[in-house]
Amino acid sequence: MKMEEKEKIWDWFRIYVQTFRAAGYGGLEHIILKEEHCLRVSEEISGLAGELGLDEEEIILAEIIGLLHDVGRFEQYSRYGTFVDARSVDHASLGSRIIRNNGILDGVGSGERKIIHRAILNHSALELEPDEDERSFFFSRLLRDADKLDIWKIMIEFYQAGGGSEDEAVGLNLPDNGRVSDEVLDDLHDHRSVDASNLRSQDDFKLLQIGWVYDINFAPAMSRVLRRGYLQKLRSMLPDDREALEAADAAISHARNSC
Ligand SMILES: [Fe+2]
Repeated sequence: MKMEEKEKIWDWFRIYVQTFRAAGYGGLEHIILKEEHCLRVSEEISGLAGELGLDEEEIILAEIIGLLHDVGRFEQYSRYGTFVDARSVDHASLGSRIIRNNGILDGVGSGERKIIHRAILNHSALELEPDEDERSFFFSRLLRDADKLDIWKIMIEFYQAGGGSEDEAVGLNLPDNGRVSDEVLDDLHDHRSVDASNLRSQDDFKLLQIGWVYDINFAPAMSRVLRRGYLQKLRSMLPDDREALEAADAAISHARNSC
């Protein structure tokens, strides 16, 4: 993607998000949270793309994928007051539709346009199915890594600030009762993505986040996970439950071994 196209998309994004900021309804902090998430994922993914040796146009494409990946979140939150897709709308499809309806990618070549839509549609799937298009699959995997890197940061800061059950937007409204579910431990044990419908507590949710390490695709992303100590930090926030701590240790070993 060319620099001038990138600038146009950034300008659209800033104005688009501003309309939600200016709407003046409750939950402004959640709009800002998602805006900042989009900006950071854009930075994460272009950094990963650079480390993987992609060329300049591909790095710009990655940057735009990161910027736009959660563009559906703003309308989702303003219409339904939640980020939980199951209680509102599939935010990935909504984002793809918003991009199409606003003609944001009209100046972008059809190949890159397809990659951007595919990556957005794929980013929130529990497990990524191989895409028929190799480049779409590559950028989908890259986006999923970048997205996870930033959500780890958000969640750890949320827990460190004492966040808990009462916050639906970040904490999913789960009780903070120190309990750990067998289904969640089973998923971790099998290196499977934890099924969110099995979450019964904040500690289940922390284990789900630890389990994301089994879904990291690229070495530069894994080394960021280790460098930032995300898994160790989440482990330190778990209750004194032998099975939960062992699952966390296994995840940490997995990260170390795959680097
Ligand atoms: Fe998302």
